[in-house]
Amino acid sequence: MKSVISLSLLSMCIAFCNANYEPNWDSLDSRPLPTWYDEAKFGIFIHWGVFAVPSYGQGAASEWFWWNWQGVSSPAEVYFMQQNYPPDFTYGDFAKQFTAEFYDADKWAEIFQASGAKYIVLTSKHHEGYTNWPSATSWNWNSMDIGPKRDIVGELANAIRNKTSIHFGLYHSLFEWFNPSYLQDKESGFKTDKFVKEKTMPELYDIVNRYKPDVIWSDGQWEANSSYWSSPDFLAWLYNESPVKNTVVTNDRWGSDTLCKHGGYLTCSDRYNPGTLQTRKWENAMTIDKGSWGYRRNIQFDQYMTIEELLQELVTTISCNGNILVNVGPTKEGTITPVFEERLRQMGEWLGVNGEGVYSSKPWTHQNDTMTKGVWYTKNEDKIYAFSFSWPDSGVLILGAANPKPGATIDLLGGDSALKWEPLQPRGVGILLPVVNPATIKAKWVYVFRLTGFESA
Ligand SMILES: *[C@@H]1O[C@H](CO)[C@@H](O)[C@H](O)[C@H]1NC(C)=O
Ligand SMILES: *[C@@H]1O[C@H](CO)[C@@H](O)[C@H](O)[C@H]1NC(C)=O
Ligand SMILES: *[C@@H]1O[C@H](CO)[C@@H](O)[C@H](O)[C@H]1NC(C)=O
Repeated sequence: MKSVISLSLLSMCIAFCNANYEPNWDSLDSRPLPTWYDEAKFGIFIHWGVFAVPSYGQGAASEWFWWNWQGVSSPAEVYFMQQNYPPDFTYGDFAKQFTAEFYDADKWAEIFQASGAKYIVLTSKHHEGYTNWPSATSWNWNSMDIGPKRDIVGELANAIRNKTSIHFGLYHSLFEWFNPSYLQDKESGFKTDKFVKEKTMPELYDIVNRYKPDVIWSDGQWEANSSYWSSPDFLAWLYNESPVKNTVVTNDRWGSDTLCKHGGYLTCSDRYNPGTLQTRKWENAMTIDKGSWGYRRNIQFDQYMTIEELLQELVTTISCNGNILVNVGPTKEGTITPVFEERLRQMGEWLGVNGEGVYSSKPWTHQNDTMTKGVWYTKNEDKIYAFSFSWPDSGVLILGAANPKPGATIDLLGGDSALKWEPLQPRGVGILLPVVNPATIKAKWVYVFRLTGFESA
């Protein structure tokens, strides 16, 4: 046992101690992901900024409000402003109303812990450019100068570290829609890089040194390539020298040439969920409000994902080697509204019963069943976990992908005793479902069967 531990420390050390990654993608891509990330499986994404003030999106995401209104003059947003604000009202005027008077980072930390999430990712700055921390390069457009008059990022970082075992991560947008310095660089065909030198890079280094995030979730990369953004230089520093060099993970949004290709884990597209096993670690970043990342006051009830939908998304994701990053959008007052909170607590309730098939699990030989639709698999050590999205009317759950070996057993997680089952010919197993009391059964929403002593059919 002892030698196993020191061996794994040694291999960690080969990867991280005295790391010397070079600022090119071959070298940066060769860095192994710190193991905590794959084991975590489930994180929470938090989109918060000045966009939480209008908090409006009609068939559109609310965090894109400024762009929808003044970038592309989208009719819904233009009409919304005409109806509700004086003609000379600017987007900047919203910042004063970003009050955050009910923002209680300890309360958020408690909700996130209760959800069973192992990491969180907060927007430090979205495409609007407003920083949720007192950035020295975002004069009068940061949460200390205008709006909350507080260090939003710092308060959450402290609460998460003091109160939970959750990894703290930050989202950061490379570009800013309307920043004059960015627009000048763009005008030059990205031959000049004043914006990157004076804004993007100082801010990235600042958030890493100040808040020591274990995730940097980069975004806003698509208009220019990674040499313009100088992201390889930043990542080489992050991996070799930064205070989080041993623990930090990054995504793949570092330039128009990197998505789904380079960086840490792959995000490929928003709500990426390929449905088949991927060799490289990936993440499904998705939202409980199906239409928006930022909060929307005009959300319709049917836009909230149900707990069943959320868990199905989680299960299909982890079966195929992904992590899920579930987004909530807080209000301008700083509350996580009850529907979002309920979903998160339900996830925690389900993970409390079924977590052994989720945390630290690995994809199995089969990702989903070969005979029954809506059954997905993971494995954890010598156990196989079958996640069933329904409870068959017949009282028998047929699994075509798993064959019993001598002494095999099957349990329903959250049920009380081992289940009866029959081997099927030429392969598979029929599980006789127990009679359950719906008032007390802990197995719900997605039913998890633990197969011990089984092999791939
Ligand atoms: C939380 O941690 C920070 C530093 O990490 C510290 O300054 C602060 O006092 C702590 N707060 C509580 C309530 O423990
Ligand atoms: C990145 O874009 C710049 C400016 O358009 C160009 O000069 C450079 O060759 C590009 N680099 C790569 C690696 O594509
Ligand atoms: C298993 O998943 C794949 C990919 O999502 C799908 O094409 C296939 O139909 C699924 N199998 C069953 C039995 O549902």
